[in-house]
Amino acid sequence: MSYTHSESLAGKAVIVTGSGRGVGRGIARSLARNGARLLLTDILAEAVADARDELTTQGAEVRSIAADLRDPDAADKIVDAALEHFGRVDGLVNNAMAIKPPSPFASQSADDFDLASDTGPRATFLLMKAAYPHLVAAGGGSIVNFGSGAGSAGEPGFAAYGAAKEAIRGLTRVAALEWGPDNIRVNVVLPFAKTEGVETWEQADPVGFRAVVDAVPLKRVGDTEKDVGALVSFLLGDDSTYLTAQSIYVAGGSGVFR
Ligand SMILES: NC(=O)c1ccc[n+]([C@@H]2O[C@H](COP(=O)([O-])OP(=O)(O)OC[C@H]3O[C@@H](n4cnc5c(N)ncnc54)[C@H](O)[C@@H]3O)[C@@H](O)[C@H]2O)c1
Repeated sequence: MSYTHSESLAGKAVIVTGSGRGVGRGIARSLARNGARLLLTDILAEAVADARDELTTQGAEVRSIAADLRDPDAADKIVDAALEHFGRVDGLVNNAMAIKPPSPFASQSADDFDLASDTGPRATFLLMKAAYPHLVAAGGGSIVNFGSGAGSAGEPGFAAYGAAKEAIRGLTRVAALEWGPDNIRVNVVLPFAKTEGVETWEQADPVGFRAVVDAVPLKRVGDTEKDVGALVSFLLGDDSTYLTAQSIYVAGGSGVFR
């Protein structure tokens, strides 16, 4: 199952953060398949170069840049790289975030909080600001940010992460209201998808993991490309031009009570 308009993103230039692995890499595969030109970025230099090479081999127009989103000039560097290669920016996917294993609230440090904030809402905020004038220049565009049920519903062990994720949803709503007149849409995706990190969790706690999957109405873990990537492709494309300010769960129905 996938989003089937194979050229639905043709010509669009899109930045995807955290695209060396996990959900971001699946999103990059989906966007490339739908015809987008991609600027991939990640703190993992080898992984993001590998993602670029994989998609380039398949015929997509892809560039990459390694960057730590905590660096003060990272956002401008990333947006400048997209402009240099493609001459425009039509979409921004703020997927990256440093994710630490769960730990009790009282044991989390100010550094843990800062890491989640700096790589989550702060990086998202700075990239949105850096991209904004170019999205305006392009006549509008689409920004997709990433939240988590760990914030929207609350999940033990995720104090700093959950707080940072909810800040991203706040930023999203404000930007959607301010930038709607510029034809810039801003939405949040809240996924549940199989990544290297989720596989590690499954191996470490197979019983607990099974219980979580059993609680998903659709009884499976999502696919980074076919499930999350398909939704992000839709949100970046011209079939969703009246959709903004939304939080959308691609989590097999498990977000229904949030
Ligand atoms: N996988 C899930 O089920 C799930 C559930 C809820 C929310 N999410 C959200 O989806 C997004 C992707 O999650 P994932 O599971 O693929 O996680 P992941 O850890 O596999 O990927 C995150 C990416 O961000 C990059 N990154 C981390 N710190 C960075 C920094 N300082 N600078 C630049 N890049 C940095 C990592 O290198 C990695 O490529 C995240 O925003 C996450 O919070 C995922």
